[in-house]
Order: sequence, then structure tokens, then C-alpha cells
Amino acid sequence: MMKIAIAGATGNVAQEVTEALVATGKHQILLLTRKDITKIPFNSPLSSVTWITTDYDDTDQLYEILQGVDTVLSFIMTHSDPENKTQKNLIDAAVRAGVRRFAPSEWATSSFEHLPWYTGKAEIREYLAELNKGKKVLEYTLFQPGQFTDYLCYPYKTSKHIHPFQTQLDFNARRAIILEGSEDARITLTAAKDLAIVVAKAVEYEGEWPVVGGIRGDELTIGEIVELGEKIRGGPFTVERLKPEDLKAGIVNSTWLPKVDHPSLPPSEIESMTKGFLSGMLLGISVGVMRVSDEWNRLLPAYKFTGVEEFLTEAWENKP
Ligand SMILES: NC(=O)c1ccc[n+]([C@@H]2O[C@H](COP(=O)([O-])OP(=O)(O)OC[C@H]3O[C@@H](n4cnc5c(N)ncnc54)[C@H](OP(=O)(O)O)[C@@H]3O)[C@@H](O)[C@H]2O)c1
Repeated sequence: MMKIAIAGATGNVAQEVTEALVATGKHQILLLTRKDITKIPFNSPLSSVTWITTDYDDTDQLYEILQGVDTVLSFIMTHSDPENKTQKNLIDAAVRAGVRRFAPSEWATSSFEHLPWYTGKAEIREYLAELNKGKKVLEYTLFQPGQFTDYLCYPYKTSKHIHPFQTQLDFNARRAIILEGSEDARITLTAAKDLAIVVAKAVEYEGEWPVVGGIRGDELTIGEIVELGEKIRGGPFTVERLKPEDLKAGIVNSTWLPKVDHPSLPPSEIESMTKGFLSGMLLGISVGVMRVSDEWNRLLPAYKFTGVEEFLTEAWENKP
């Protein structure tokens, strides 16, 4: 039995992963949250797991919590963690407590060009690399699944915990916004369910974790996604093409904007972030940020991922 600590445990992705870990029945799991645990609804498989409240500020308390812990998985939302204070405290306490393995709050892209909201992830990559310079003190992997396939099913929920939000590839309204000339840009799409199972398997993997931990559910070009959407939704998509030079100048002249209502964003901020988020995603995709490598596919060759077509065909069946 391994002791695993999950930081940011009330979050969407954390809960998907935690349930996959709980389902193995093999581990002792500690769920770390800043919230008052008496107010957490205990109506899920997670009610049987140990919850601990921490503000992550008291590093002695964190050190105590992490005693005997083998692996720490962090899901802390980096844009809500000024100067990465929380994640850095967590890493420092993990090293002090002799934790073997750590996964920082990545869970997305291979790189961060044009994605300023991921600056915190980039800093944590540097922090971990610096920590291990010369001599490895903490084994870690950057789990990177690309974009969750689930988002292509907005507004329908296809996982238990991932909150669906609208993207520029809007299957529901049969429309898409793409960057001019980006039809051949490739993106990795991984079902949230597959990510969770792969992480549960990675925790049990006995070899050394690779630093870059790409998880490639499937990989398609933007053009292929639009074509697939037209096939699955039974009709043509209205595709708007934005110019890179306009986006770089802060001009977004599409007739509609995808609403990024992620639970970590205050509703008052969503409106103002929408254009920047769309620009960043379109420009980022064109330089490959959403295309990840396949380290975990190669380390876990028996695991069969759900293909995008299979996933979306099932999800959109009988939808208006
Ligand atoms: N690949 C994809 O398509 C995709 C999609 C969504 C998310 N992600 C990634 O997955 C990770 C988790 O995202 P999520 O959607 O699950 O986010 P979320 O639902 O907002 O959960 C993040 C959790 O982080 C904790 N947190 C936030 N600010 C904190 C702070 N300053 N100090 C300590 N804890 C803090 C909160 O937990 P407590 O309140 O319990 O402390 C919160 O529940 C992120 O790295 C995100 O980028 C990837």
C-alpha cells in the first residue's frame, strides 16, 4: 500500500484522478484542501478518504502531513497561486519529508507560448529542474494530456467532475473559429477518464518517472476535428478564420466568442478574459502547444485509449 497525497483536492481534475486511485483499492489517500472539510459534501467515493485542511502556509504542518507519503499529486490552480507560493511550499515540504515522487499542476500543454495564464506552470518547471540540478532530490513527471476530449462535448458533461465549457470548436452550434492557415496544426486530445486511469497506473509504475510525461489519447489536426464534427453532427460547420496579425495586435473580430466559464474564474472576470483566451489558444495551437509527446503511452503499452471519434460519436448520439 502506498500513501498518496492530493493537493487542490476539491478541484475537477483532482477528483477524477482521486476516484481512479480509490478504485484500485490499493492506496492510502490524503486529500489536501484549504476548505473547511465539514462543508465538503460527503456523497462520493471520496467520503471514505482522509481529508486534511491546510492553508499550505505553515510548512511545518505540511511536513507533518507528508510524513510517510510516497507520491504527491498537485492540482493547485497556478493562476490562483500568486508567485507559486503554495506549490513551492508543497515541493519544499515534500523534499524535507522524504517524499519520493511529485507531479506538479501541469495536466495540459507541452509548452506555454501564447498562454500567459500558464506562466505559473512554467515557473514550477524551472523550480523543479533547479532543485534536481546536479543531484536528483525529487523524482517528478509533468503529466501532459493535451486538451480533454470532453470539452468538445460542451454543453454536455461526459465525465463525473470536469465542468464543460465552450471552446472555439463548438460542436453544439456546428461552428468553429480557427487561425487562418492552421488546418494542419495538430492537437492532442485525451479523455479525462483516460488521464485519470493513466495517472493511477503511473503511480504504480515501478521504473523511474520520465520528466516529460506526455499522455496521448489521440492526435488530430484542426481540419480533421472540424471534418469529424461535421460527420458526427450531420451537417457543415460555419468556420471563421482569424488572422494571426490581428490576434497579435489584440483584434478579435469573430462574430461570436467562446465563454470560458471555468470554476476557478470569478464570473466578473470571464467576459474580459474571453478574447485573450481565444487568441492565446489559436496562436498557441498553431505553434504546437497542444501537441504532447507519448512517454506514458510507451511506458504503459497495454492501456488502450479511447479514440476521439469513438468518444465523440457516443457522446453526441441522439443530441439535438
Ligand atoms: N488538459 C485540460 O484540458 C485541462 C482542463 C482543466 C484543467 N486542467 C489543469 O488541471 C489542473 C486542475 O484544474 P481544475 O480544472 O481541476 O481546477 P479547479 O477545479 O479550479 O481546482 C483547482 C484546485 O486548486 C486549489 N487551489 C486554487 N488556488 C489555490 C491556492 N492559491 N493555494 C492552494 N490551493 C489552491 C483549490 O482547492 P481547495 O480549494 O480545495 O484548496 C481548487 O479546488 C490545472 O493545472 C489545470 O490547468 C487541464
